[in-house]
Amino acid sequence: MRIRPRRLRATPALRAMSAETRIDPRSLMLPIFVHEGDAPRPIAAMPGVVQHGLDSARSTARAAAAAGIGGLMLFGVPTRRDATGSGATDPDGILNRAIAAIAAEVGDELVVAADLCLDEFTDHGHCGVLDADGAVDNDATLERYRAMALAQAEAGAGLLGLSGMMDGQVAAVRDALEGAGRTDCAILAYSAKYASSFYGPFREAVGSTLRGDRRTYQLDPANAREGRREAALDAAEGADVVMVKPALGYLDVLAGIAAESPVPVWAYQVSGEYAMIEAAAANGWIDRDAAIAESVTCIVRAGADAVLTYWALDLAAALRDAPATRRGEGA
Ligand code: PBG
Repeated sequence: MRIRPRRLRATPALRAMSAETRIDPRSLMLPIFVHEGDAPRPIAAMPGVVQHGLDSARSTARAAAAAGIGGLMLFGVPTRRDATGSGATDPDGILNRAIAAIAAEVGDELVVAADLCLDEFTDHGHCGVLDADGAVDNDATLERYRAMALAQAEAGAGLLGLSGMMDGQVAAVRDALEGAGRTDCAILAYSAKYASSFYGPFREAVGSTLRGDRRTYQLDPANAREGRREAALDAAEGADVVMVKPALGYLDVLAGIAAESPVPVWAYQVSGEYAMIEAAAANGWIDRDAAIAESVTCIVRAGADAVLTYWALDLAAALRDAPATRRGEGA
C-alpha cells in the first residue's frame, strides 16, 4: 500500500485541522518607540513603524488591547544623553514617563514591558557605563541596572526586558526588586542575544550614537552552545522568561533552549528581519502578508512560547479577518 501523506493537504479544511502550529495573538508582543516630541516620526528603515509621541503611543496601546495581542515592549528615545545614561533612572525620563502613561491606559489588559538597558540613554551608545579605558564596565553597569529596574517598576512596568547582556544582570535586578519589595515585577531576560547586523534599522529607530559594535558583550553568531548556557544561567538567576534574539537566523538556538528550559522561551523578530520583508514586498518581490505569517509561524514552530514582532497588530488583524479554515496557515 502506498503511504499518502498528501491526503491531509487536499483541502483548506483538512490543512487547517492538520496544522501543528498556530499563531495566537495573545502570545504576540509589539515593541514601540516613544520619543520626547508630540508628533509621530517615521523611521525610514522600518516603513510603517514610527517613533511615537505620548498621545500616539497611548492610542497604539488602545489598538493593541482591542486587537487582543499580549503586550507591549517600550523603548525610550531621549533628546539628551550622557555618560551614565541618567535619563534611564530619572522618573521624568522619556521611557519612565511612557511606561506610566501606557500602564495607566492599558495596564489592566496588557503586559506592559520596558527595555532595561542603557544604550538609548548613553552618549556613547553602549549598553553599559564605561571604565577609564573606555571598556564596558560590567559590575558598575549592574548598579545602574538595579536603579533602572526600580524606576521602571515604580513607573508601572510589569515585565522588565533585560537586554544589556552584562554578566549577572538577572541576579542583580532580581535582588534589587526583592530588596524594594517589588516581588510582583517579572524579568524577561534577553539571554541568547547575538551581536547581529540585523539590529541595523533599530539604531535609526532609537537614534543610536554607537560607534563600533557590541561584540564584547553580545554573543558571537557562531555559538549555539553558549546561547543555551546563557539561558540556563539566567533561569538559575531568577529570570521568569528567557529570550532568543534575533529570531529567524537562530531557530536552532531557540529549539535547543525550548527543549531544556524550565521557564517560558520567547523570541524577538528584530528590526532587520522586519526591514528585509518590507523592502522585498515594496519591490513586489515577495508576498508581504504570506511572508510575515510564515516567518512568525516558523519561529513558533521552533519553540517560541511568545514572539516580539513589529507586525503584532498586522498579524492579529490578519488572523481575525482570515476565514476560519485558513487560520494558522497565514493570512
Ligand atoms: C538594546 C536593544 C537592541 C535591540 C533591542 N534592545 C539593540 C542592540 O542590542 O544593538 C534591537 C531590536 C531590533 O533590532 O529590533 N537596548
